[in-house]
Amino acid sequence: MFKVTPWEVSGKIDYQKLIEEFGVSEITDELLQKLPDHFMLRRRIFYAHRDLDKIIDAREKFYLYTGRGPSGKIHIGHLLPWVFNLFLQKEWGTELYFQLTDDEKFLFNEDLSLEDTKRLAYDNALDIIALGFDPEKTTIFLDTDNMNVLYPIAIKVAKRVTFSTAKAVFGFDSSTNIGSIFYTSIQSAPAFLLSEIEKKSVRCLIPCAIDQDPHFRVTRDVAEPLGYPKPASIYCKLLPSLTGNEKMSSSSPESSIFTTDDEEQVRKKIMNAFTGGAATVKEQRLHGGNPEVCAVYSYYYFFFEPDDSKVRGIHDRCRSGSLLCGECKAMLAEKVNSFLTEHRKKREKARDHIDDFVKKL
Ligand code: TYM
Repeated sequence: MFKVTPWEVSGKIDYQKLIEEFGVSEITDELLQKLPDHFMLRRRIFYAHRDLDKIIDAREKFYLYTGRGPSGKIHIGHLLPWVFNLFLQKEWGTELYFQLTDDEKFLFNEDLSLEDTKRLAYDNALDIIALGFDPEKTTIFLDTDNMNVLYPIAIKVAKRVTFSTAKAVFGFDSSTNIGSIFYTSIQSAPAFLLSEIEKKSVRCLIPCAIDQDPHFRVTRDVAEPLGYPKPASIYCKLLPSLTGNEKMSSSSPESSIFTTDDEEQVRKKIMNAFTGGAATVKEQRLHGGNPEVCAVYSYYYFFFEPDDSKVRGIHDRCRSGSLLCGECKAMLAEKVNSFLTEHRKKREKARDHIDDFVKKL
């Protein structure tokens, strides 16, 4: 049993099954040929889509749209789709709209005030800016600062989404607050933003993890009746937590690596991570480990080792028993720390550039 919704991910995710359940398409070899080369595509970390082929074949202007719900600190999992957005922006020169849903996280979290989520939105924006997006082509916006633009689009969406659809798609019930029920229309709005601003049909492509698809299913259903083009999307798998199966989540800090963790915290978390190692060193030398179920290996695979031959090397040495978990963890900790040391420097520098990125719509 597993569950994937925008607000809850649990169990061992069967990504093939999710394709059927959500009704998305798999990225085929043929489609891959039309995309720029990236290890996340080659490895099918980005593995599913809606209408990606159409948006590529149309050769018309489109923009990228993605987002973040500012409920806490940023972990490595969040960076995964953002690094991919950055890659696409660089490859295609595409404009990017980045939604910070301070309203969403206020509505869905008992413990967070609107002041908290707004503060976190600005804090999280530092991580986004630090990745190196082009300020000329990137607009990061907070929902509550831009309701004059978002609300007229959102109510058009809301008028076409019934409570029974919201219940079926998101699992709401009668005890759900009405703000949460309405919220999906706010996440739909940026998908129609440029069509609204330019008064003509402008498509968007949404690169994010597959947990957000339920929102965009709703968005696509209402698009054409409202006179907007359907948004396309490309979805990645979820970076697992350090404890194994479930996705990395801010709600269990020991199982996630945050961008603001110091070197010692990173080392400690990785050293305590779940691995595919055998019970004893002797056994592992004899029979090898199992990278397929190993959290440490997944960090190399998803993010920290873009070189295919090197990741294959780690895989094979683990399988053969020549690479033991201690060495493999220490190597990963070093890689993560060298990435994060640089990232934190850029994050501090980003404080001087907030206004170049966080803009009014
Ligand atoms: P949020 O803040 O939960 O997540 C931000 C982005 O990170 C992705 N993500 C992950 N990717 C890989 N591995 C993980 N373990 C992992 N955990 C989260 C999410 O899919 C997301 O892309 N409601 C949204 C905010 C939002 C949004 C959007 C997201 C508004 N508009 C448009 C994507 C596209 C949210 O709370 O994301």
